[in-house]
Amino acid sequence: MPAPPVDSFERKIDYLRLSVTDRCNLRCIYCMPSEGVPRLEHSEILSYEEIARLAHIVTGMGISKIRVTGGEPLVRKDILNLCARISRTPGLKSLSITTNGVMLAEFAEGLWEAGIRRINISLDTLQPEKFAAIARRDFFDRVWAGIAAAEKAGFSPIKLNAVVMRGINDDEIEALAGLTFRHPYHVRFIEFMQFNPGPGGDYDKKFISSIEILERLRRIAPLDLCGDSQSNGPALHYQFRGAPGKVGIISPVSNHFCPTCNRLRVTSDGKLRTCLFSAEETDVRKALRLGLPDDEVAGIIRRAIAEKPEKHHLENPVFRKCISRQMFSIGG
Ligand code: 5AD
Ligand code: SF4
Repeated sequence: MPAPPVDSFERKIDYLRLSVTDRCNLRCIYCMPSEGVPRLEHSEILSYEEIARLAHIVTGMGISKIRVTGGEPLVRKDILNLCARISRTPGLKSLSITTNGVMLAEFAEGLWEAGIRRINISLDTLQPEKFAAIARRDFFDRVWAGIAAAEKAGFSPIKLNAVVMRGINDDEIEALAGLTFRHPYHVRFIEFMQFNPGPGGDYDKKFISSIEILERLRRIAPLDLCGDSQSNGPALHYQFRGAPGKVGIISPVSNHFCPTCNRLRVTSDGKLRTCLFSAEETDVRKALRLGLPDDEVAGIIRRAIAEKPEKHHLENPVFRKCISRQMFSIGG
């Protein structure tokens, strides 16, 4: 397999987050407006053939890890066959998925059989009423059943992601972290990003920094930093002494992980984004639909990688107001 492409800041780019749909069965306040959003036409979304070809092209370039995202990937029709197809791509080392868990009770086993080995599940609260308030759908029990089904299917570790918002679910930091004493889960706390400040706006009041989250975790029990933290993407991992699970902190806003960013994103309508927070997009769908040969599509992707921005400027409130797309459309 070729070595992964390197950008102009010496970062090895070996990871693609691939959104397979813009649709979702939840309406999380930090992600979507309550009225929902206009959906893309079916013809705008990459077809299975196009997705499979793209997976083939990027792995041929040395990009060997793919994560399937959404919207909610499990709402895409025939998602298991699509995953199975991607997982057969020669040179692919890791295929993972990010899901909200709503349909996981039904799909966990199939995902395992389709070759997915890593799973991230969103879980912002352990209280059913609060779940309904955050996700605007009363599906806590389904998600909880989904997490159990993923464990039973063999996924390990199960990563649970919580977006922490002051006044909304920050009172559950301890309860969520406490799961790691009873289960081998990785519970990761994510700083709230201003894609959609939710009802009442007030992003700055809802934002809670990773430093504050960590202080709260330290008050629970002795906390050790895990040795693998650096090599493990944007999360810093910790473990309460004696706990089977781990806690992690992802700080996209305050402590950017840009210097080690190894990722690309492709939206469900086939736009390549080399930075979550940059408005620059490269139209890969057009390249695929023009019938360009694989090496020319790869060339277009390589040129975009060469332009990957050094870092975001989320610490700047003026910049924060200009974020061009919301999460459901970029893909977690
Ligand atoms: N801030 C932080 N994370 C977000 N996500 C979506 N919107 C935001 C936001 N505003 C992430 C969450 C969610 C996943 C689908 O995308 O982790 O679980
Ligand atoms: Fe759906 Fe994820 Fe957005 Fe929630 S955060 S509405 S689960 S895409």
